[in-house]
Amino acid sequence: MATRVNCSAWFVNPWHAITSRPSLSRPRLQFRHTLFSSSSSSSASSATRGAVCCTGLSNGASETDPFVLTTPLYYVNAPPHMGSAYTTIAADAIARFQRLLGKKVIFITGTDEHGEKIATAASACGSSPSEHCDVISQAYKALWKDLDIGYDKFIRTTDAKHEAIVKQFYSRVLENGDIYRADYEGLYCVNCEEYKDEKELLDDNRCPMHLKPCVRRKEDNYFFALSKYQKSLEETLEQNTEFVQPSFRLNEVQSWIRSGLKDFSISRASVDWGIPVPNDNKQTIYVWFDALLGYISALSEENERPDLQNTVSLGWPASLHLIGKDILRFHAVYWPAMLMSAGLSLPKKVFGHGFLTKDGMKMGKSLGNTLEPNDLVHRFGSDAVRYFFVREVEFGSDGDYSEDRFINTVNAHLANTIGNLLNRTLGLLRKNCKSTLVVDSAIAAEGNAFKDTVEMLVKKARVQYENLSLSTACEAVLEIGNSGNSYIDARAPWSLFKQGGAASEAAAKDLVIVLEAMRIIAVALSPVTPRLCLRIYEQLGYSADQFNATNWSATRWGGLKGGQVMAQPKPVFARIEDKVEEETNAKVGAGSGAT
Ligand code: MSP
Repeated sequence: MATRVNCSAWFVNPWHAITSRPSLSRPRLQFRHTLFSSSSSSSASSATRGAVCCTGLSNGASETDPFVLTTPLYYVNAPPHMGSAYTTIAADAIARFQRLLGKKVIFITGTDEHGEKIATAASACGSSPSEHCDVISQAYKALWKDLDIGYDKFIRTTDAKHEAIVKQFYSRVLENGDIYRADYEGLYCVNCEEYKDEKELLDDNRCPMHLKPCVRRKEDNYFFALSKYQKSLEETLEQNTEFVQPSFRLNEVQSWIRSGLKDFSISRASVDWGIPVPNDNKQTIYVWFDALLGYISALSEENERPDLQNTVSLGWPASLHLIGKDILRFHAVYWPAMLMSAGLSLPKKVFGHGFLTKDGMKMGKSLGNTLEPNDLVHRFGSDAVRYFFVREVEFGSDGDYSEDRFINTVNAHLANTIGNLLNRTLGLLRKNCKSTLVVDSAIAAEGNAFKDTVEMLVKKARVQYENLSLSTACEAVLEIGNSGNSYIDARAPWSLFKQGGAASEAAAKDLVIVLEAMRIIAVALSPVTPRLCLRIYEQLGYSADQFNATNWSATRWGGLKGGQVMAQPKPVFARIEDKVEEETNAKVGAGSGAT
């Protein structure tokens, strides 16, 4: 954090007394009443009502409000790595789940393109910053396509509409008396794009995250009066204990605030690559002040004149900001204070997930210990990558990657538990029932305990998705597969068919029951593995349009009807060794053909 060494004797704000200084004794905030609502008519106290889980209609949200969900806007200093893909995969799973619930979802992602770090990266590649940003933001878009990320808005902080919104927001904060000019001196980490508290640093003033020395800087800048919002932030977090999640991160945020908030510098005199400060083009706006506003500017329509107030009416406040734990302070302290200053509602929830690590260190571009997501997707497919990281890293905690664990998990869960169960059931149905269901699944399962288990597990999965316990949601769905395997093993329909008569009829019903469970798995796991789930649906005799039209209510037992004809059984998920072998064989085949 920058230390203010000499506050100029004037505020930049022309509407404020020249002698005023930011301090804790400044007047109370003007906009408190709008903190947690999208309309100014709701009171801040509504923030404390309900708020049981993420999708609950907490904080004054109404049924018709869109579910606005954001990922961080990724720095374009280098192409995406698995750490950046992780948040976006989780966000996509949540967005798909919310769409299944029938919500209008606005899923926002994008790239953070200004600042010193980006300008330096561009010049290291011999490109202009803007060429460099075009290339890297495109690499993000391409990866999101390969990972089946269905975002609604992609904002680049170099978009003209974003720049207009940032300037309007800055002017509001200025008008509210929260920007002033001062000198500062401090230790800056360019990789974090943040001034650091000397106490936090390692030896030789190295940043604990990036292990690189911070540089001492002294500059004359514009400051945001964060300290003025200390009390309001404390109250906000006390009243709305759901605002920061997982709950164990709330204490951390509260203790930062309690330890005393210092004003922070929101402009840079030494950085050209940025949005000019309104009325002072010798300075650019600090990259974080600029980027956080991408969550709002993303909402604006492409062909309309960007206007902050109109844009806010298109979906603000966000329902959920998904971020990594390293940027929690920006989202749970700076951002809410900035919004309070501008008289805008606060987001409803900020969820700080853990890190993907390699050998215990955060995987990252700056340390160079990254995992290549494109490589993983091309080798194993998007469902495998999505599933592994959602299922195996508890959302909120850190998780270490290993290729062995990746292959074992994906094979055991997707190829064996789900894929084999479907395949062998369809094989039996083809052999004994001409691939046709003999009866409605509702009738087949009357009084059946396995059906009760499926119903219980799918309800559990829903609650876990709602609570953002994504791994546990997957676990509940997988448990349906495990129970299905146990059921079919115990019932042994292959033997019943051999007995003929009533035993054979019972076996035919068992197949209907297991296939209905598979159908429910396909709906309930579709937020995480959409391609696999489509293939399951197609095997069950449905079209892609039918699959795309499903919603969460399709997880109710009874969808499959008697007479429905299943497709020719075909594995829906190839085991990874098989895939690697197939690729090798294909290469060998191609090679021998050429000689
Ligand atoms: N540009 C800022 C965010 C501005 S949001 C208005 C930024 N960008 S970043 O590219 O450095 O990081 C983006 C996100 O990726 C952060 O949430 C960060 O935590 C996450 N991750 C980067 N490396 C990660 C892992 N190794 N594991 C999990 N997430 C990690 O910060």
